Amino acid sequence: MSQAQFTPRVFSGIQPSGDLHLGNYLGALKRFADAQDRGVQSLYCMVDLHAITVWQDPAKLRHATRELTAGFIASGLDPEKSILFNQSQVPEHTQMAWIFNCVARMGWMKRMTQFKDKAGKNAENASLGLFGYPALMAADILVYHATHVPVGEDQKQHLELTRDIAAKFNHDYDVEFFPMAEPVIEGAGTRVMSLRDGTKKMSKSDPSDMSRINMTDDADTISKKIRKAKTDPEPLPMDLDGLEGRPEARNLVNIYAGLAGMSAEDVMRDMGGRTFSEFKPMLADLAVDRMAPISAEMGRLMQDTAEIDAILGRGSERAREIAAPILAKTYEIVGLVGS
Ligand code: AMP
Ligand code: TRP
Repeated sequence: MSQAQFTPRVFSGIQPSGDLHLGNYLGALKRFADAQDRGVQSLYCMVDLHAITVWQDPAKLRHATRELTAGFIASGLDPEKSILFNQSQVPEHTQMAWIFNCVARMGWMKRMTQFKDKAGKNAENASLGLFGYPALMAADILVYHATHVPVGEDQKQHLELTRDIAAKFNHDYDVEFFPMAEPVIEGAGTRVMSLRDGTKKMSKSDPSDMSRINMTDDADTISKKIRKAKTDPEPLPMDLDGLEGRPEARNLVNIYAGLAGMSAEDVMRDMGGRTFSEFKPMLADLAVDRMAPISAEMGRLMQDTAEIDAILGRGSERAREIAAPILAKTYEIVGLVGS
C-alpha cells in the first residue's frame, strides 16, 4: 500500500478551555467552515481529555466543551456534514494512545517544547498525562487515518511526532498501515494579533480583555474594542509594503481582510490613505456585522445544552464507526487476541 491510497480525511482538535476569540474564529473555525463544502470528510474534536492534563474545574470544563461546540456550529460548521464530537465519548482514542505509548520513545517525548513550556520549572510535578499528551494527539489523528490536520504553527512539532510514531509503527510491524498525516498550517494572514500589541498573538491567556474580541462579546463591546485598538499616528499606507514596521496597522488590515473574505492587497486598494479615525469605524462596523450574529447564535445554542449534548453524542457515534475498525486492525497487527 502506498501513501497515495489513503483517502483524504481532515482531523483537528481544539481544547475546551473557554474564551474563544477572533483568532480562533479566523485562524481555525472559519477556515474549517470554508473548507466544509470541498467534499472531504472532516472530523472536529473537542479534546476534553487533553484539557484535563492540567486540572480543570469540572463545571467549567463541561461549560467550555458545550460552548466550543456552539462556537463551531455558530461559525458555520454543519454537524450533518462534518463530524463534531468530544474526545472522551470515543474510547478508541485512549485505546490507540496506549499502543502509541508503547511505540513512542522517552527521548522523543522529552524533546517536546510544549511540555517544557507547560510544565515549567517544576516538571517533576507535572502530570503523566501532560507528558503523554502528544501520544494521545497522535492517536486522535491516526485512529481515523487522517491525512490532513489544520493546526497552528505551535503544533508542528506534535505533527512531526505523529509522523514519527506512524513510521515507527509501520516499520516495527512491517506494514503500511498508518498514513503520514500532514499539518495544514494557518498562513500569516490568518494569524490575528493582540489589539494592544501587534507583535503578540491574540490569546485567551492575555490578562487584558481589551487585547481580544471574544466570540461571546456583544455588538457594543466589539465596537468599543476596535475603536480603542492600539494604532500609530500615520494614515494607512497606499500598499502592503508600507505596512512594514507597523504591526498594529497590519493587524487591523489583516482582520478586515479576514472578516470581509478579501485579500490584504484588496483591502489596501480600498482603504490605502485613510486615517484611522476613518478606517476604525468601518472595521468596527464590519466586525459587528460578522461577529455579533455568531455571538448571538452561540448564546441561543447555549440555552439548550441538551441539544448540544445530543449533537456531540451523534457525532461521537459517527466517529466511532470510523475509529473502531482501524483500532481493531491495529490490535490484530500488534498481536492482541480478540474474538
Ligand atoms: P488554542 O485555543 O490557542 O489552542 O487555539 C485553537 C485554534 O485556534 C488553533 O487552530 C490555533 O491555531 C487557532 N488560533 C488561536 N489563536 C489564534 C490567533 N491569534 N490567530 C490565529 N489563529 C489562532
Ligand atoms: N494540541 C492541540 C492544540 O493545543 C489540540 C489537539 C489535540 C489537536 N489533538 C489534536 C489538534 C489532533 C489537531 C489534531 O492546539
